[in-house]
Amino acid sequence: MTTSTLNFPPGPPQINNMLEALLLGFKYQRDMLGTISEQFRIYGDTYAIRFKKGVQIVLSNPDHIHQVLVTDAHKYHKGPDYSNPNIGLTFFLGNGLLTNEGEFWKRQRRLIQPAFHARRIEAYADTMVAYAQQTMAGWRDGMAVEVDDAMMNLALNIVAKTLFSSDVSGDAERIGSAMTVLQHMAADIQLIPHWVPTPARFRRQRALRDLDAIVYRLIAEWRESGDDRGDLLSMLLLARDDDGEGMTDKQVRDEAVTIMLAGHETTANAMNWTWVLLAQNPDVEAKLHDELDRVLGDRPPTLENLKRLPYTDMVVKESMRLYPPAYGFSRWAIEDTQIGNYDVPKGSVVGVSTYATHHDPRWWDAPERFLPERFSEESEKQLPRYAYLPFGGGPRVCIGNSFAMMEARLLLATMAQRYRLRLAPGQIVGTDPLITLRPKGGLRMTVEDRKPTMRGGIPDRVVVGTV
Ligand code: HEM
Repeated sequence: MTTSTLNFPPGPPQINNMLEALLLGFKYQRDMLGTISEQFRIYGDTYAIRFKKGVQIVLSNPDHIHQVLVTDAHKYHKGPDYSNPNIGLTFFLGNGLLTNEGEFWKRQRRLIQPAFHARRIEAYADTMVAYAQQTMAGWRDGMAVEVDDAMMNLALNIVAKTLFSSDVSGDAERIGSAMTVLQHMAADIQLIPHWVPTPARFRRQRALRDLDAIVYRLIAEWRESGDDRGDLLSMLLLARDDDGEGMTDKQVRDEAVTIMLAGHETTANAMNWTWVLLAQNPDVEAKLHDELDRVLGDRPPTLENLKRLPYTDMVVKESMRLYPPAYGFSRWAIEDTQIGNYDVPKGSVVGVSTYATHHDPRWWDAPERFLPERFSEESEKQLPRYAYLPFGGGPRVCIGNSFAMMEARLLLATMAQRYRLRLAPGQIVGTDPLITLRPKGGLRMTVEDRKPTMRGGIPDRVVVGTV
C-alpha cells in the first residue's frame, strides 16, 4: 500500500521526527487514559497517529474491535515487541501463551485449555474461599490495611495453589517486586539500547533471576515426585506431542511464569477497584450486604450458593467496566487490510482501548456512575456486542476468564460478608495505567467489622489443603 492514497481515520498532525515522537510518547506516559480520552473526544471513536513511516490506529468502536479480534484475527499478530526477548513482556514471559503466535500458540493453547474447563475450576472454589478467610484472619475492626498488597498476595497464592499445587507465600514479595519491575519495563519508553547496563536493567535482571529460581524450583519439586497431581504443572510436564516429545524445562517455565503473572495481578486489581467503588457508593454496598446476609447468613459462600448471588456478580462486572484491569491491548497487522472503511497497511499497530469503549456514553448511560444494574440479566442482553470486553475476545480471549470471574465473586462474597473497607475522608484514589490498571500509590483502607459476633466462618488460622 502507498500511504499517500490511503484512507486513514482522522487524527493529530503527522509525527515527522524523533523529537516529536518522544514528546508524544511522554504525553501518553504522563496521562495515558486522559490523553486517549481526549483524542477520542476530538476525532471520534477511531483515530490514527501517523508517522513518516507507518501509522498507529486506536479503536473504541465495538464493531471495529470485533473485526480485529474475531473476523480478521488471522490478519494480526500481537506485536513486533512480542518476538523480541530483550524488551517488554517477552523479557519476563519468554515464549509463553500470552506472547507466542501461529501453530505453536495453537498447540500450547489446546494443551493448557483443559486446566481451565468449567468442571476443573469449580473444584478450586473451596480453596479460593479458604485463602480469603486466611487473608482476613489477621484483620481487626479499625485496622488500616494495605489492600493492594493483600489482594495481590491473595490472588497469587490462589493461582499457585490451584494450578501448581504449591505454596508460594514465602516468595510473594519477590514475585510482587518482579511484577512491578515488569509493569514499568513494558510501559516505559526505551531510549537506551537494551544492552547498555543501567540501574533499571540490573533490577530487571535480578527480577528475572528471582522468577526463574522460583519456577524452576517448582519444576524440580515436581520432577522429584513425578506424580500426576492433576494440576496445570503436571499437564505441562506430562504433555507429549505426536512424536512423543515433551516440553523443555524452559518452555514449561515460560508457560508457568505467564500463567502465574497473568493470573494474579489482573484479578487483584479487579478486587482493588471493587473495594474502592463500594466505599464510594454506600447504596450499592448496602444492596450487596443485603444479598450476602439474605443468601449466606453467616455461612461461607460455596460454588452452589454462588449461583444465588446475582448482585455480587453484577458488582464485579460493573467494577471491571469502570476500571478494566486490562484497560487496553494491541495487535500488529501482518498483511495489508482494512478496518471498516479505513486502510490498515501491513506493519501497522492497532490499539484496542477497552477503557474508552467501557466509558462511551453511546453504550453506557451516565458512564462514570457505578450502576451494577447495567448487568442485570435483561440489561446485559441489550448491550451491543463488544461494548464490554474486560477479557478481550476472539481466539486470544483470556484463557482464565471463568477462573477469574468465579474467584472475584467468591472473594468479594467471603470478605464483604464480614468486613467493610473504608477510604479515609477525602481520600482520592488515582489510576496508574501500566500493563494493568493499578491504584496509584497503593491502596490503604480501614477495616470495619460488620459482624463482630460472627466466628465460625473465619477461624484465626485456616489450613488450606490441596485441591
Ligand atoms: C480479572 C482478571 C483478568 C482479566 C481482566 C484478564 C484480561 C485478559 C485479557 C484482556 C486478555 C487478552 C489480551 C489480548 O488479547 O492481547 C488476557 C489473556 C490472557 N490471560 Fe487473562 N485476565 C484475567 C485473569 C486471568 C487469569 C486468572 C489467568 C490464568 C490463571 C489469565 C491468563 C491469561 C493468559 C494466559 C492469556 C493469553 C491467552 C492467549 O493469548 O491465548 N488471565 N487476559
